[in-house]
Amino acid sequence: MRCQSLVAALSLGSAALALHDQFPINTSGETGARPLDVINSNPGHPYSVSSNSEQWRFDEYPPENATGNLIFDTVHSLLQHWPNTRYRNGHNIVPGVIPIGTLLYHGTNGSHMIPSGPEWTAMDPEHSIFFSRGNGSGWHLTLAATRPLKVLYFDGNSAAKLSEGTMDTQDIIAWGEPRPERSFDERDRIDHLCTWGKEFRIDGFVRMEMSLEVMLCNFTAGVEVVSFVHLTLPRDDRSFHLLTSLNHTTWIRTFEVLHSGSWHNRYPGDSRIVLDLTGLISLYDTALASSLISVRAGLERIDHRVFGISSQDSSRVMRRLTEIASRPDPAGSGTDWKTLIRVIVDRYADRLELTQYLLNATSSDPQELLGRAKLAQAQLRVMLTPYLLHSTAVPSAGTLGIYSSQWASPIFRLCVRTHTSQITNLIPLMMSSELLLLKAVEDTTREICRVTTKMWADGVMSGLDTLFPVERNGEPDVTQIMNGWRQDIQKLMSWLDWSVWIKCQPACGPEEMCYLSTWPINAPRPDSLPPSPQNPQNLTNAREAQNFANRVGQPKYPTMPTEDWGKPQPRCIRRLQPYGF
Ligand SMILES: *[C@@H]1O[C@H](CO)[C@@H](O)[C@H](O)[C@H]1NC(C)=O
Ligand SMILES: *[C@@H]1O[C@H](CO)[C@@H](O)[C@H](O)[C@H]1NC(C)=O
Ligand SMILES: *[C@@H]1O[C@H](CO)[C@@H](O)[C@H](O)[C@H]1NC(C)=O
Ligand SMILES: *[C@@H]1O[C@H](CO)[C@@H](O)[C@H](O)[C@H]1NC(C)=O
Ligand SMILES: *[C@@H]1O[C@H](CO)[C@@H](O)[C@H](O)[C@H]1NC(C)=O
Ligand SMILES: *[C@@H]1O[C@H](CO)[C@@H](O)[C@H](O)[C@H]1NC(C)=O
Ligand SMILES: *[C@@H]1O[C@H](CO)[C@@H](O)[C@H](O)[C@H]1NC(C)=O
Ligand SMILES: *[C@@H]1O[C@H](CO)[C@@H](O)[C@H](O)[C@H]1NC(C)=O
Repeated sequence: MRCQSLVAALSLGSAALALHDQFPINTSGETGARPLDVINSNPGHPYSVSSNSEQWRFDEYPPENATGNLIFDTVHSLLQHWPNTRYRNGHNIVPGVIPIGTLLYHGTNGSHMIPSGPEWTAMDPEHSIFFSRGNGSGWHLTLAATRPLKVLYFDGNSAAKLSEGTMDTQDIIAWGEPRPERSFDERDRIDHLCTWGKEFRIDGFVRMEMSLEVMLCNFTAGVEVVSFVHLTLPRDDRSFHLLTSLNHTTWIRTFEVLHSGSWHNRYPGDSRIVLDLTGLISLYDTALASSLISVRAGLERIDHRVFGISSQDSSRVMRRLTEIASRPDPAGSGTDWKTLIRVIVDRYADRLELTQYLLNATSSDPQELLGRAKLAQAQLRVMLTPYLLHSTAVPSAGTLGIYSSQWASPIFRLCVRTHTSQITNLIPLMMSSELLLLKAVEDTTREICRVTTKMWADGVMSGLDTLFPVERNGEPDVTQIMNGWRQDIQKLMSWLDWSVWIKCQPACGPEEMCYLSTWPINAPRPDSLPPSPQNPQNLTNAREAQNFANRVGQPKYPTMPTEDWGKPQPRCIRRLQPYGF
């Protein structure tokens, strides 16, 4: 494959270098087919957004219902605890494997029989021990994968037993549609998932609770017992109705589950699960699930969910899933999507944040403000340095109409195309999931480049950039420029909405960790469960719900509902007693 090494280079972030080596770009003329145009002309391809005739306009905002930013961000967030706690309702279903030798843990209620049917396992023992319930002791099983385990991952806080959307995607597989009234119906859900997966030799389903878990379909297939031991444990007060104080030993167990979850907070998340993004199914894919566009209309992102999907769309999702699950091996273009997306986040997250900080300055001293504006301009220029074509002709100030930044459009264009122009060569080899990813990357970089180039060009025209001097009459109105910039960057960053920007400020002390309110600890008390609100007569559901509620200790579980439940905000919590969630 001619482009293989180039693609590898692109993924590693040597994009500009690779491009230059392969296609020296002659930018001294305004017209004429350039290599970037030539390779981007894939006639009629539904996902090919770039074309020769495209206008690189700075006033072209992404459509209100665009989802490229959401696909980009949710894919960047896969298997990470932090972003999936922030936005609980998952939209992605992704196939993957758990490599040979990986350990899985299972705590029991006192029995030391290997489960004969599907059951839950944890990636970290701190999580499974939570379920080793007993009077001062408990049984704990450790398994190891004896071959790569084939799994399907549901993103979001997908093991949170909530009716507000965390379980919607898996319910489509289990029951054909989201069934919010059955959020606690875990036994039936796992049985249905495993029954469905049998045909495709799926070993388990990965979900996120307070930490990641694997719903393992068969405890004697592809795994062997490392140990099954009787441990001394703090007494589990959930079994004895003794929950009174926050100092209680149960809280150690509870906290340590959250603690182990926090180890997987940030990129790359839990790398013991290796995802195959060429099989990604996103419910933010408007071609796959167009019925959700109107469901989402006017909602905040945290309220996006899959409930409300049409039955045609559910069937389409299932057809895609069946196709993907039946594939013998990962296929596709060979592009490392995970790394490509990370490269873009790395490159811009920090600089945008720094620029936003610089623009936040308010001062009555004009000189101080001007100094601040020049620092911000320098940051914008640094972001765009690989695209600042020497041929750029800056017009003199005062000669410009309404689209006064248009002279900078070759920079905008190069900024957008650099990361993906070579990969578009591989479109004929791409799986449909990869076309979706390509579009998400292009949409996202396009908006970043549009806004940053426009901001930079505004700064140039205001005489703030020493490398691009312009003739001006009089001093620039720095306050006005700063105000415009502040709005631009604010809008861009909230459109991107990357969770890397959500952190505890100031940073937490050594006895603390940064935390977002999570299920079940901070969830509103499930007063209406069981029986289920929509199915009060359904005793099967009610009994299942009660069984499960007992298993996790809810509603006996001492929840501490918080006000920020609807929109979790980062805060420091103690890692030591006395805890405070
Ligand atoms: C670059 O393009 C300009 C204008 O189209 C042309 O005059 C020049 O010869 C080209 N240079 C190279 C190295 O191709
Ligand atoms: C998005 O909204 C615009 C304007 O409301 C509409 O024309 C377009 O069809 C919508 N896109 C999709 C994918 O529904
Ligand atoms: C443990 O769970 C099994 C299966 O649900 C049940 O049969 C058994 O009675 C339970 N044992 C204890 C000690 O709760
Ligand atoms: C728990 O174990 C202790 C010590 O063995 C015993 O005294 C106590 O009665 C037990 N409590 C329950 C509820 O079984
Ligand atoms: C579980 O796997 C074992 C070993 O592969 C197999 O013998 C057994 O039939 C499986 N159990 C079920 C319920 O499929
Ligand atoms: C919990 O422990 C702390 C210090 O160990 C103590 O100050 C506090 O009073 C205890 N709280 C309760 C409710 O027992
Ligand atoms: C901007 O400044 C305000 C007031 O000092 C502060 O509360 C806020 O966190 C700052 N925002 C950023 C993005 O730095
Ligand atoms: C009750 O739940 C069971 C599955 O647990 C389902 O098969 C049945 O259709 C439900 N009944 C009603 C009346 O919803």
